Amino acid sequence: MAGLCGSFKACHCCTARIGPSVLDCDTAMLATEAARALRAGADYLHLDVMDGNFVPAISFGANVIGKLRAHHPKVFFDCHMMVAKPEEQVEQVAQAKAIHPDTKKNLLQFTFHIETTKSRGKTQEVIDLVKQNGMLVGLALNPATPVEHVLPYLDQVDMALVMTVVPGKGGQSFMVDMMEKVRHVRAKYPEKDIEVDGGVKVHTVDEAAKAGANMIVSGTGVYKVEDMALAISTMKRSVELYGNGLTEDKLSPLRYDKDLAGYAAS
Ligand code: DX5
Ligand code: ZN
Repeated sequence: MAGLCGSFKACHCCTARIGPSVLDCDTAMLATEAARALRAGADYLHLDVMDGNFVPAISFGANVIGKLRAHHPKVFFDCHMMVAKPEEQVEQVAQAKAIHPDTKKNLLQFTFHIETTKSRGKTQEVIDLVKQNGMLVGLALNPATPVEHVLPYLDQVDMALVMTVVPGKGGQSFMVDMMEKVRHVRAKYPEKDIEVDGGVKVHTVDEAAKAGANMIVSGTGVYKVEDMALAISTMKRSVELYGNGLTEDKLSPLRYDKDLAGYAAS
């Protein structure tokens, strides 16, 4: 559906969603830390699985995602699989499957990297496998990977993830030159979810929003700031303003931690 965005080149009608990455929260308190972000306005959780192979670090795996599901049965999980052989983890991650009881929406997405499958000729196979296991499919590409590598598959996937840092750790700087890829995908797919991940914070989100990203991952930009609710609501408003073309009076309200029920400053 075309929007009413007038001069906004990247205008689209994809819902603005903010997905905190839990990589840099207190992961010993994962369910609680996730709840803190959700209460502060997060729309979904971005769960970074790292295998010490595709990226040097190891984070957590399918087992932890399954345990987290028990604490958050109605929350959308975007599982960012930074693993060398994603096909080996599809069935385990699918254990965390859930359907929202009211909206009937699928709450589990398996997002894998094209770099792990293209050279092995397995991209199509993994897409099919993820779907057979009842999950939504996300396809990610690293900063060094040309956007042309994912284009042949975008019709079949639910979301494109444009990495805005070299994957592996939180707290890196946003690579603004990746916005060309976002613009390219948005121009071809006005209704497709496009996610950006890496270095997205209140002062960098406008670039991503203007390019057409609607799913905003932020790790340190959510967990390492003074006011989590303000950071989340500010980023959401950026997508609504620059991506959806809403006027100021129609934007989601700014929210502050101090106004959240039961908020206790630490
Ligand atoms: C990086 C991960 C990101 C990371 C984002 O490899 O995929 O999800 O946690 O963290 P920030 O927002 O701090 O760059
Ligand atoms: Zn990630």
